[in-house]
Amino acid sequence: MKDLLPPEAPKWRFIEATAREAFAAFGFSEIRVPILERTELFARSIGEETDIVSKEMYTFEDRSGDSLTMRPEATAGVARAFLEHKLHATPGPHKLFTIGPMFRHERPQKGRLRQFHQLDCEVLDDAGPQSDAELLVLADHLLKVLGVAKVQIVLNSLGCPECRPSFKQALLSYFQDKQGRLCDDCNKRLANNPLRVLDCKQEDCKEIAAGAPLISASWCPDCSEHFDQVKRLLGLAGVSYALDPKLVRGLDYYTRTAFELKTGELGAQDAVGGGGRYDGLIQALGGPATPAIGFALGIERLALLIEDRPEWQSGPALFIAALGEEPRAWAFGAACALRKKGLWVEMSASDVSLKAQMRRANKMNAAQVLIVGGEELKAGAAPLKDMASGDQTDLPLDEIVTRLAAAGA
Ligand code: HAM
Repeated sequence: MKDLLPPEAPKWRFIEATAREAFAAFGFSEIRVPILERTELFARSIGEETDIVSKEMYTFEDRSGDSLTMRPEATAGVARAFLEHKLHATPGPHKLFTIGPMFRHERPQKGRLRQFHQLDCEVLDDAGPQSDAELLVLADHLLKVLGVAKVQIVLNSLGCPECRPSFKQALLSYFQDKQGRLCDDCNKRLANNPLRVLDCKQEDCKEIAAGAPLISASWCPDCSEHFDQVKRLLGLAGVSYALDPKLVRGLDYYTRTAFELKTGELGAQDAVGGGGRYDGLIQALGGPATPAIGFALGIERLALLIEDRPEWQSGPALFIAALGEEPRAWAFGAACALRKKGLWVEMSASDVSLKAQMRRANKMNAAQVLIVGGEELKAGAAPLKDMASGDQTDLPLDEIVTRLAAAGA
C-alpha cells in the first residue's frame, strides 16, 4: 500500500479529471459505493474458485460477527447498489462510473499493489452490442487523451449459458487424460469451473492449456452474431483491436464480450484495464434478468505510462521576499489578502537573508518575486521581478491587491 506524495498528486488529478470529462461526454453518472461489503457478495459475484476470492481478499469478522471484505473490485458493489436501490425500476441503460481504492492481497510488484485504484464504468440493463462497442470506444478514447500509447485492446467472447456448457464439456474431454500433469489448483478447477484452468499461471498448466479447444468453436449463433456486431461497430468507430480466442478473465461473472487493455511497458503486469459483459450477475444476486457490461482501468498502471508534464510543476504566482520585521508584517497581510482573491502567494516563514529567499522562490518555481525592505515600505513602492524574463517594474504597495488580483498575477 503506497502513500501518494505531493509531487505525484498532479498526475493523479490529471488522470481523474480527464476520466471524469470523458465519462461525462459518454453519458456516465457517478456512483460511490462503500469499501466494505459482505464477503458473500464478492464470493457469489467474482466466483469462489477465482484467485481473487480464494487467495486475495482482505476479509474479517466485524464486532457483530458478520464477515466483511474490503472490496477487491467495484463491479459487485455497483451491482448490489443497483439492486438495493431498485435502479432497474427505471428504463436502462444505466451508465455509472466510480473511482476509488480496491484491495487485493497479491504479491507486490511494479504495477501491482495491495491497495490500488480503479476508474470503473458500468452499463446496466442493456443487452445490445452497441453498449459493448461504446465502452471500448470510451476506453480507447480515454487512453488517447491521457497520452497513453502502446496499449492494445484484446478481445474475445466467452459465450453464454446456452453455449458455455458445451465448451466446458470440450475442455473436460481435453484435460481428462492430462490431469496428472496439472497443478492441484487446476485439478480442483476442473471439477468446479474448467475455464479457470485456461487462466492458470503455472508453466506446466500453461503449456497444456495451449492445446485446449477454443471457445469460438462452441459459440451459439446469438453469441457469434453479437460478437460480429461489436467488431463491426468498433470498425465503424475506427478502434483497432486484436482477437485472442484464449483470453479468459480472472473473474467468473463474464459472459460474451470480454477484453483486456494490454501493454508491453509494465513488465509482468501487462493489463492496464479489463472488462466485459456480465449478463447473469444481477440475476445471480437475486434481481431481475439484467444484462450489463463494464470495465476498469488501474490508476497506478496508467500513472506509470504517463510522462510528467511541465504545466503540472506550476509554482506560486508571487513570492514576497520581505526583509525585516515591519516589511514582513506588511507582507503577511498582503499575502493573506491576495490568497483570499485566489492567488497562490508565498513568503518565507522566518526572517532569512534575501539570497535565501530568492533561492526558495526559485525552487518553488514562483512566477514573480516582490522584494520589500524597510526603504521600499517607506517609499510605498517595491521592485516586482518576473522570474522567467528577468524584467523588473516598480509596484505601488497600496495597489498590490487590485493590480495583481486583476491581472491574475
Ligand atoms: P480486473 O482485470 O481484475 O477487472 O482489474 C482491472 C484493472 O485494475 C487491471 O487491469 C489493473 O489495471 C488494475 N488492477 C487490478 N489488480 C491490481 C493490483 N493488485 N495492483 C494494481 N492494479 C491492479 C476488474 O476489477 C473488473 N471489476 C472490471 C470490470 C468492470 N468488469 C466489468 N466491469
